[in-house]
Amino acid sequence: MTSTELPVASHSASARNESPATAANPNRALWEKGDFTRLAATMREGGDEVIERLGVGPGMDVLDLGCGDGTTALPAARRGATVLGVDIASNLVAAGNARAAAAKLPNLRFQQGDASRLDEIGDGRFDLVVSMFGAMFAPRPLDTAREMVRVTRPGGRIMMGNWIPGDPTLIARVLQVCAAYAPPPPEGFVSPVTWGKEELVRERFGAAGIPQDRIQCERATYTFRHPGTPQSFLAIFRDYYGPTMNAFDAATRAGRRDELQAELARLFEAENRAAGQGTEIPATYLRVLVTR
Ligand SMILES: C[S@@+](CC[C@H](N)C(=O)[O-])C[C@H]1O[C@@H](n2cnc3c(N)ncnc32)[C@H](O)[C@@H]1O
Repeated sequence: MTSTELPVASHSASARNESPATAANPNRALWEKGDFTRLAATMREGGDEVIERLGVGPGMDVLDLGCGDGTTALPAARRGATVLGVDIASNLVAAGNARAAAAKLPNLRFQQGDASRLDEIGDGRFDLVVSMFGAMFAPRPLDTAREMVRVTRPGGRIMMGNWIPGDPTLIARVLQVCAAYAPPPPEGFVSPVTWGKEELVRERFGAAGIPQDRIQCERATYTFRHPGTPQSFLAIFRDYYGPTMNAFDAATRAGRRDELQAELARLFEAENRAAGQGTEIPATYLRVLVTR
């Protein structure tokens, strides 16, 4: 894996005015930076489709890992499941709980936690563990796979959506472009997009005790929908999405801000498929389905 395939980690937490807990955990600092809810607002229909396809319904216990503000957790709870959302970012946990209260969903709650260390969650607790573009960002992927398997009941399912390294569609390209402008990641950093490689997915769940015939991988499409222009959609990434914010910070320090802006602007225009007003961008991901 080359450095250009590596998404951007936050290396400058201590340089910003952050709490010691955040500063000590660059993974958390990356996601508490900005406001991911602004981007999540363009992902709601896709989240609903993911949950519909999984057949979530009453009587199911669902864990949403790296849940953000509930793009998949809310649709799961609306279909009657009991849902726990876990996320590393305290601001997103608060936003999720506010959305659950506003939607009057007592069967949905959010708490802070790290997908690679689910200490407070007992073995075999969930019928379904969902993680759309969430657990892939946790450090220590082998631990993350083991924890997802541990908290799933025998016969239960794990579903991950993971961006794919080298894929030409939007998010994989954004992460690749941003990484090219950011400082090199620290020694030992494992790129989140390695979760988009089938052989590594199989290796990680295999190491967690899952037989290979219980692991399925396929390419699927997630569509982002934004009411404004592609350029205003890009502005959301630039101003509110941690990995892109870090890349703009680094590019600005290197005197390359305009270059980064222009490169991403071309990408967002080229990927837009909306026929009329607004922006509609489909992005390819690896859909992983594991049966425990
Ligand atoms: C791209 S967002 C996706 C959020 C949500 N699943 C969605 O589809 O809208 C990635 C999420 O993973 C969370 N995350 C990153 N590292 C994590 C970790 N180690 N444990 C739990 N959540 C994590 C981030 O805080 C963020 O909410």
